[in-house]
Amino acid sequence: MAGRGWPADGRGCGLAADGRRQPGSADEHTRRRPTDGSAADPDGPHPGPLGIGDRLVRRKRGGRARRPLRPRASPRRRREPRHGRERRGGRRGRRWLAGSAPAPHRARRRRCRRDREPPTGEPRRDRGGRRGGDRRARAGDRRGRAGRARAAAGARVRRDRPTRRDQGPPAARDRRGSPRARSPCALDGDRRRPSPPRAPHREGARPGAADRRGPRARPSGPGWPTRALGRLRRRRRARPGDPARAGGRRARPPRDRPPEGSPVSGDRQRATAFLEATASEEDHDGLGLSIEQSATWSLESAEQGAAFAQAKRPEEFYARWGNPTVARFEEALADVESGEAALAASSGMGAIATALIDQAREGERIVAQNSLYSATQEMMARLLPDYGVETTFLPGTDVDRFADEITEDTSLVYLETPSNPLLQVADVEAISDIAHERDVPVFVDNTFASPVNQRPLELGADVVLHSGTKFLAGHSDVTAGAIVADRDTIESMWTTYKMLGPSLAPNDAFLAHRGMKTLELRVQRQNETARQLAAFLDDHPLVTEVYHPSLETHPGHDVAARQMDGFGAIVSFEVDGGVEAGRRALESTEVATLGVSLGGVETLIQHPASMTHAPLSDEERREAGIADGLIRLSVGIEDVVDLETDLDQALESM
Ligand SMILES: Cc1ncc(COP(=O)(O)O)c(C=O)c1O
Repeated sequence: MAGRGWPADGRGCGLAADGRRQPGSADEHTRRRPTDGSAADPDGPHPGPLGIGDRLVRRKRGGRARRPLRPRASPRRRREPRHGRERRGGRRGRRWLAGSAPAPHRARRRRCRRDREPPTGEPRRDRGGRRGGDRRARAGDRRGRAGRARAAAGARVRRDRPTRRDQGPPAARDRRGSPRARSPCALDGDRRRPSPPRAPHREGARPGAADRRGPRARPSGPGWPTRALGRLRRRRRARPGDPARAGGRRARPPRDRPPEGSPVSGDRQRATAFLEATASEEDHDGLGLSIEQSATWSLESAEQGAAFAQAKRPEEFYARWGNPTVARFEEALADVESGEAALAASSGMGAIATALIDQAREGERIVAQNSLYSATQEMMARLLPDYGVETTFLPGTDVDRFADEITEDTSLVYLETPSNPLLQVADVEAISDIAHERDVPVFVDNTFASPVNQRPLELGADVVLHSGTKFLAGHSDVTAGAIVADRDTIESMWTTYKMLGPSLAPNDAFLAHRGMKTLELRVQRQNETARQLAAFLDDHPLVTEVYHPSLETHPGHDVAARQMDGFGAIVSFEVDGGVEAGRRALESTEVATLGVSLGGVETLIQHPASMTHAPLSDEERREAGIADGLIRLSVGIEDVVDLETDLDQALESM
């Protein structure tokens, strides 16, 4: 799948080779913009804001035709770029070089820089081929002579300080200073201590996700913990005229799920595999990820700077290009999603916008599920049409409609499964098969499921999107997003990303990475609690409808049971009495917190009609199935008994 190329003839951007709009482009269908600078001419260049494609195509042609965003400074007043060295008098003009010897910290850093290999776009590897090789090598330098000697001998740094192990067995430590010893009544209130998962509520209720490993519990193969990534389809989306397309459609290789390298196929149990994905860098002994809080890195020479500027995703050049801390989060996520690479963004919408802008072409159509996160839906319904990209929305459950609507002019298929907030389940495998027959890539927002419950790349999808703000980070303390795909796709999307600039801050990458250490544990607990709450609400006399794929009555139950390892932690339900009743119920909860977002450790409750989906028109909300009395619950890690009691009293108070 190719990202946005910049075809010199304007193909794919709705522009003909002469820069004019092609007849039949979406602009032709949707609205004819005057395009020659006069308000009347429908064919010349238009005076309004340029489309994304327009700007890129014009820049490729030399930039002169590009519409200047700001008046340029006159040639006489234009300043040369100020590089530090030039400003201070050239190479030897640095202040710390004014004397005879370089300042010691600079000398040390330059020694490290000498180790830095020219950017190749490849992850750094040590002699054994493990990632992080040159970082590990540099660690020797940072440790001083003794450290270097130990590093050279391959020894770990011995700790001379007493460790917790030296302080005696845990039982003894408990008595001395554990919270339990200090406050024996911490669990005596009317909140429960964590209890083992309870038996299903109703006769015939489905077994928990952990028990339902049937078709997906495959014999283990090689894979974990080698971090060898699975054989993923590397699918390039050829453009018309692209030689890759000349041979017609490519036969899809047989898919043997889960692929080698999937966290569920290796020789570790899944919980271990998920934890090992976040194992710390091999060049330092701390178990926590180190935060490289730098926006820019010093360079050895102008040539090195030029090489970095041309490189794909250099980690130590300029933070919008990449950052080592962010890169470690990306690697961990790619591993647990069975992808080859990931691109972290500063929010889920940053990731989604980057992926859509990279792939969508003016004059082509997106075919999307009709139940989506509101901002994604808004972007497709309101923003992208301004750039000539229309979207056809379809029920995610109707595979036949997808078969009818996916055509050669479809730029991508977009699914969100389970969807926000109705938990609509789309059959990723069936829809991917149809899309691939027509050479169309499939994007899946996997935020609701998390990689613990579902790995769309294993089901045949091409690109996975995440709001890392939710389950991945898991503690409602960071905004993050990510794209996961094969390496070629990620590198291509990175070019767009670098221009748009939604890079993730290193501190936020640290938090998201740390959150992922407990991802499996949290999601398993949340799955089970959500399943029990769904059953509880389903039996509640004041609840008219419950949406959770664990319920056999849910239309997506069978597909979810096939493609997911757990049914997820989001439960939506409807109450009688419309907006007012819904509001009263949510304002009465005591354990569940009224708030937007989801996927954190605290249970959150919200009212889509008046909150997250308020930006949509009544018509759009109705079409998306958002009823006035719909309430969405993001189940946290509290005890299920407390949550049931809380919901019961809230419903009674309506
Ligand atoms: C399914 C889904 N995708 C994407 C997003 C956007 O994520 P963010 O808020 O991190 O931009 C959300 C946010 O709620 C979401 O629920």
